[in-house]
Amino acid sequence: MALPEAFLQELLLRSDISEIASTYVNLKRHGRNLVGLCPFHNEKTPSFNIYTESNSFYCFGCGAGGNVINFIMRIENLDYIDAVKLLAQRAGMNMPEESYDDSMSRLRNRIFEANRAAARFYHSCLYSNEGQQGLDYLHKRALTDKTIRRFGLGFAPDSPFALTNHLKSLGFTDYELETANLAVKSKKSGKVIDRFFNRVMFPIIDLRANVIAFGGRIMTDQKPKYLNTSDTPVFKKSANLFSLNNAKNTANRQLILCEGYMDVIAVNQAGFQNAVATLGTALTKEQAVLMKRYADEVVICYDADEAGQKATARAIEILRSTGIEIKVLRVPNGKDPDEFIRSKGENGPVAFKNILENCGNDLEYQLQNLKLKFDVTTPQGKVGYLNEAVKILAKLENKMEQDVYISKLSGELSVEKSTIVTQVNKLSRQNYKARQKKEFTKLQTDLSGTKDTINKQHYQMPRATKAEESLLAYLINNPDSVDYINAKLPPEKFRTDFNRQLYVYFSDRIKSGLHPTSNMAADFTMEESGKITAIMTSCSSLAATRQALDEYINVILQESEKLSEEKISTATDDELMDFIKRIKQQKK
Ligand code: GTP
Ligand code: MN
Repeated sequence: MALPEAFLQELLLRSDISEIASTYVNLKRHGRNLVGLCPFHNEKTPSFNIYTESNSFYCFGCGAGGNVINFIMRIENLDYIDAVKLLAQRAGMNMPEESYDDSMSRLRNRIFEANRAAARFYHSCLYSNEGQQGLDYLHKRALTDKTIRRFGLGFAPDSPFALTNHLKSLGFTDYELETANLAVKSKKSGKVIDRFFNRVMFPIIDLRANVIAFGGRIMTDQKPKYLNTSDTPVFKKSANLFSLNNAKNTANRQLILCEGYMDVIAVNQAGFQNAVATLGTALTKEQAVLMKRYADEVVICYDADEAGQKATARAIEILRSTGIEIKVLRVPNGKDPDEFIRSKGENGPVAFKNILENCGNDLEYQLQNLKLKFDVTTPQGKVGYLNEAVKILAKLENKMEQDVYISKLSGELSVEKSTIVTQVNKLSRQNYKARQKKEFTKLQTDLSGTKDTINKQHYQMPRATKAEESLLAYLINNPDSVDYINAKLPPEKFRTDFNRQLYVYFSDRIKSGLHPTSNMAADFTMEESGKITAIMTSCSSLAATRQALDEYINVILQESEKLSEEKISTATDDELMDFIKRIKQQKK
């Protein structure tokens, strides 16, 4: 069951992708189109394109693309129907009734309900007899009951069926519990048992106040220390942040990025509601883009240990590519934020506030780290430090920022400013050239088709592929030519399977009176949709004339005559003669 075409058409018409994507991504106008840094992968030069004419997008870097529904599915982590619902709501349209398959949407809702019931259950266990040791543990870690309530913390009892039995009594099925990853099938007994037991539980709540997952901490030194919900239809750990539901409401558009659940909670208890954490993995581009929606500034507040500092360097790189302001908070005395805030004496919440208000930006952090590696009281140390520092400064795109730090460096080391400027400019030029060269090489590999992961036959048959793509572009952009093209070109003539499949798909849709690409987000993956968008947009200006069309058809027919070696070796004499005759005719 598909959505009615008229509804889809109306929805796409009312959902302008440039307007919608602009609320998630910084975009610059580029002729009729818009470009920006891709929200789906980490990059330094923009390769994310919005095509206003076809209301579609494509990233040359990662191949993501498609129409506005594909975009919303990916950036909001929604399935097809829920993405359509969100756009319909935005456009003020009612969903058509019962004409579509919403089983995925219904399953997601069941998982939300099961998760909510689980969170309630865990929380009530924490305040019952069997949860006593969990409550003691949290109190020992200095959490107040108010904080425990605010975060909805809980306790998973030390029994394999506690939650499963409870949720089944509420009407949830084994399938729903397994899909929610609240339960798993035991390898030993084959029975469905609780995923979490004997752990204190941290519910993870999304921006629409749904409970989407849990983290559970063991109360001893056993491993694994934390167990998190695996990815489910409602949860993707690389695209969510712990406590963003609390943090998004703060007025100053600043977020504090911590490493773990306990840090976030401790920072909250110390009076700062704007703390978030990743869910046991390194920061991703998707999370950075998400933060950008709620903040203009991120304070990275990772552990003081080596792992924490490595993660800081990586987070700086990812956050920089979103254009958000970055500060780095160094927690003193080798502690993590939670330990620091809890400690007595000169540390504690007041000291934390003080450090937070006075911490430097990412550049100052990088320069300070660098300086520690050299003895700048000696000439060699000074030169070593300068050489490395100019490398960092040469990467800055903001020239004013660059100038400020060059002046600072010059004053600090008593070195002529002009000397540093010369060196920075030289490196900037080198960086620029290297980037250009890389882009050129990339463009060449793109053209040769070796990197085409969607049409895997592109590389072997570049001429056929190019002609097929041009023809598809013509067909999509000139749907009324379908009968003319179909009459001259049966699908068998296509040499690459992917393009043949598209040819049949688009021809059928057009002949049934449907728009060729309106159902793309439901019928293809994001990468396939990306490929279709690339075909549609890159060939559109070339594809315009009827004469060009006849040329594509000719090339496709010629290419289809190229017999594989295998075919030639097994062909009969008659078949070979026939083949030669046809080739001769074509040459005339
Ligand atoms: P506490 O020891 O409870 O204070 O935790 P912490 O936040 O100080 O832990 P740590 O710095 O070791 O880890 C930071 C974050 O990484 C945690 O909050 C978890 O999200 C994640 N993490 C830590 N250990 C594990 C583990 O064993 N498995 C998984 N999946 N994630 C972990
Ligand atoms: Mn800790």
